[in-house]
Amino acid sequence: MSKTFAVIGDPINHSLSPNIHSAAFRELDLDCAYIGYRIPKGELEEGIQGLKKIKISGFNITIPHKIEMMKYVDKMDESCSLIGAINTVTNNDGVLKGYNTDMDGFLEPFKKKELKIKDSKILLLGAGGAARAIVAGFAKEKASSITIANRTIENANNLSEFAKKIGLKANAIKIEQVSDSAKDYDIIVNATSVGLKNESSPISLEGIREKTIVYDIVYMPMNTDFIKKAKDNKATIIFGYEMLLGQATRAFEIWHGVEAPYNVMKKALLGGF
Ligand code: ATR
Repeated sequence: MSKTFAVIGDPINHSLSPNIHSAAFRELDLDCAYIGYRIPKGELEEGIQGLKKIKISGFNITIPHKIEMMKYVDKMDESCSLIGAINTVTNNDGVLKGYNTDMDGFLEPFKKKELKIKDSKILLLGAGGAARAIVAGFAKEKASSITIANRTIENANNLSEFAKKIGLKANAIKIEQVSDSAKDYDIIVNATSVGLKNESSPISLEGIREKTIVYDIVYMPMNTDFIKKAKDNKATIIFGYEMLLGQATRAFEIWHGVEAPYNVMKKALLGGF
């Protein structure tokens, strides 16, 4: 019997997920469909009832429902309780189980490119939901320390406390305080939303060491000003689309139990730009 999958959120019309998953279905000859379904804020409960009614096999969750979704699953993978949000759900005969693939998706490009995290000094810009999953990833991979730089210092402090609780040496600063200290880090990650609207880089990358790993989680546009500045300074780049692809392949493997066709999914994703 054919299976249906979905991504829910608002807005949803620009989502690249239907293209990415549909390409994988074609490649592996799976009798499946993947749709974008707009559920406005405040209508999540009814939206999920609708999805259950059509016997949805699984779905992804994006802004603004990732945290609220925790209320509506029957079971949760430990990734959800750690990160405090759900972005992937399986439906087995009406029993919903939640997963969070942000952490694995974030780590995937490091694995693919054999880039080392262990014992590295990290600078993380941002302290929102995505940043929390990233902190969990760096703790798992045993980074040496993390500095969390954010516009609102309270949020940076809270995330720094979380980092310490899960075994990472951490401190918090305001983003303006980074200035030329960016050169002291092995890995610099932008987990703010700055760049989505073509804004200039949230920090200067002048003078960073060659081969510093610079990772932007903003994937649209692909070449943010932050990425351009990193290239000018001869950094090793990880693009936001690589994290997106890491999340999509992980979700695919949770749902279908077979290895995701990475290259086909990458081609479909890049075709969307
Ligand atoms: P996400 O789920 O993508 O992480 P979020 O939880 O809303 O989204 O977090 C957005 C992040 O981008 C936050 O760190 C936010 O900083 P604040 O904690 O100060 O709100 C950061 N951010 C958003 N707009 C920004 C801007 N114009 N300048 C600097 N940081 C910004």
